[in-house]
Amino acid sequence: MSENIAGATTRKVTIKAFRFNAETDYLPTYKHYTMEVGKDELILDLMNRIKWEHDGSFSYRRSCRHGICGACAIKVNGKATLACKQNAIELLDLFDNEITLEPSSTKRAIKDMIIDKSDFWEKHEAVKPYVVTDVDPRPEGESKQSVAEFNNFLDSDLCIQCGACHYSCPALEVNDAFLGPAAFAAAYRFTVDPRDEAGKERLQTTFESAAGVWDCVKCFECADACPKDINPIEKIGKLHNMQFEQGIAVSNVATRHAEGFLRGIKKTGFLDEADIVTYSEGYLGMYKHVGTAMKMMKSGKIHWHSGIPFIKSIPEIKNLSELQKLIEISQTNKL
Ligand code: SF4
Ligand code: SF4
Ligand code: FES
Repeated sequence: MSENIAGATTRKVTIKAFRFNAETDYLPTYKHYTMEVGKDELILDLMNRIKWEHDGSFSYRRSCRHGICGACAIKVNGKATLACKQNAIELLDLFDNEITLEPSSTKRAIKDMIIDKSDFWEKHEAVKPYVVTDVDPRPEGESKQSVAEFNNFLDSDLCIQCGACHYSCPALEVNDAFLGPAAFAAAYRFTVDPRDEAGKERLQTTFESAAGVWDCVKCFECADACPKDINPIEKIGKLHNMQFEQGIAVSNVATRHAEGFLRGIKKTGFLDEADIVTYSEGYLGMYKHVGTAMKMMKSGKIHWHSGIPFIKSIPEIKNLSELQKLIEISQTNKL
């Protein structure tokens, strides 16, 4: 740290930034910018200073500077960051004075930090992110809802469509059809709104194989990435429940896989990896996973007799009956 004329402490650091122009470049490069960073500067301030003091062609999106518009979402050292909310010194401390600025999705980069977000908006649109209802042109009064009904969707209503969760989601990275956590949070928000009439349609859209919530791998990356604490994975869990409750969920590999977890726990108190596969995909389906099974056997996660009917391969926990009672009284949905 050094002291400037005004007496404020600053730190000299070198920022590494992703540079790419889709119109002229075949591959991206990383450029370095050295500057004195003050304790109150935000990541957005560092991007402004790269542009204003080093290279006017450096490009990024920003608008509100107050964490409201969602435009300035980027990745810093691989972690989703809302540039106008994140203090720079905090991150410099955390990462030993090394900071790399990258767009939310490098493969979608158009120019430096600016990405093509069209997949995000298309998926958002697919869940009808608005109240669907016949509006009376001459209503006699306002459309009332209780505090509890309002609180049910309040947090998901705070989404600023920054895309941080969407571009941190590993399921989306390998499955282009997957609607993604932000779309699911929006689907939940409008489905539980008592004024809305398109809930069943949204539950159907978010049930579809490959696109829907059943392809989420429950890694919690979206919850970690969200700057508004919306917790999309929690909404995904609620959509699962609503699909069961409203008769949308049907028995298929995905729903049986979820049920298989519970079945295993009920039987022994332990998660039975082999039983989940046989229950959800059948004995023939098991052959698809022989390679994985061999690796799991090698690391001691399953045994040679796991999944074979009538051979008990997992011991029972003590007090299994208590656990079974707990499951019985807390279970709300069944296929
Ligand atoms: S929890 Fe699901 S939706 Fe969220 S990031 Fe992981 S795979 Fe994606
Ligand atoms: S859910 Fe959170 S991370 Fe995802 S788009 Fe909305 S505000 Fe951004
Ligand atoms: S500039 Fe609007 S959220 Fe950062």
